[in-house]
Amino acid sequence: MEKVVLAFSGGLDTTVCVKLLEEEYNYEVVTACVDVGQPAEELQKSQNSADKINTGKHYIIDAKDEFANEYIARGIKANAEYEGYPLSTALARPLIAMKIIEIAEKEGATAIAHGCTGKGNDQFRFEAIIRSMSDFKIIAPIREMNLTRTEEKAYAESKGIELSYDKIYSIDENLWGRAIEGDVLEDPANEPPEEIYEWTKSAEDAKDTPTKVSIEFEEGVPIAINGEMMGLVDLINKANEIAGENGVGRVDIIENRMIGLKSREIYETPGAKLLIAAHQALEELVLTTDELRFAEYMSTLYADLVYRALWQEPLRDDLDQAIDN
Ligand code: ARG
Repeated sequence: MEKVVLAFSGGLDTTVCVKLLEEEYNYEVVTACVDVGQPAEELQKSQNSADKINTGKHYIIDAKDEFANEYIARGIKANAEYEGYPLSTALARPLIAMKIIEIAEKEGATAIAHGCTGKGNDQFRFEAIIRSMSDFKIIAPIREMNLTRTEEKAYAESKGIELSYDKIYSIDENLWGRAIEGDVLEDPANEPPEEIYEWTKSAEDAKDTPTKVSIEFEEGVPIAINGEMMGLVDLINKANEIAGENGVGRVDIIENRMIGLKSREIYETPGAKLLIAAHQALEELVLTTDELRFAEYMSTLYADLVYRALWQEPLRDDLDQAIDN
């Protein structure tokens, strides 16, 4: 039997994918979850779901440092935000895809699968990397079978799959931010319920006195916070904590997705907002007028490329070099 490696979170989509890949596509399924700084419970959930559904093998790959140093650091240097969103999900996808390719090679698999639907951006981000970096066949069961969440739940029930998910919203979380969508949020007339927020305090609950924070940069990358040197993963966690306490980092937008759909998306990205603001302030100090104008232009281009699944577009590398210079 041929083997497929499935990018697996243990949520509804990917859990249903395991059974579909086995029964409808006739593959032996290996699952893999790439740790880009999602909470420990999320990783545990992927392990528990994998155990329950009894996949042959489940990998958890720690890619936090690589995510921070090779992806987020570039995002900071470029001040990269798409429509006010610091690209937490978008920056993580190429790395996740590359890790899945490594596992597929190691496992001698012939295909790679993901649980994306046909509506979002992540299908393109995963597939752009897989297509350009490997020859693996790509399988997207949820998209190919055009399943709705209701149909997925019914399928899971009919197969006796115990779902370990109990969320109302679709949430994607990593070191650089939390994205929350779905359910009541889909109607822009609805205010987001306070319960969706986990990283940030509301203006009412935030501290009434200012918190001063100093951030030290080296070559455009933060290396110390409040005088304390630390690695980028720890520094971002610290920045998330400080900014979140102060009610910084809530983003509520009608986002223009790649396929032209508008979608209401809420983000919590306190650390990203703090670090990008500090980086911009640093640029104001050291760049010339013309450099500043051009940096702004590059920033928009950069964010668009990252958002639109074009991590490997040569222009991205050109921009990185100009920005580093
Ligand atoms: N809209 C964002 C993007 O395309 C985040 C997508 C994931 N969000 C989610 N809530 N599941 O990058």
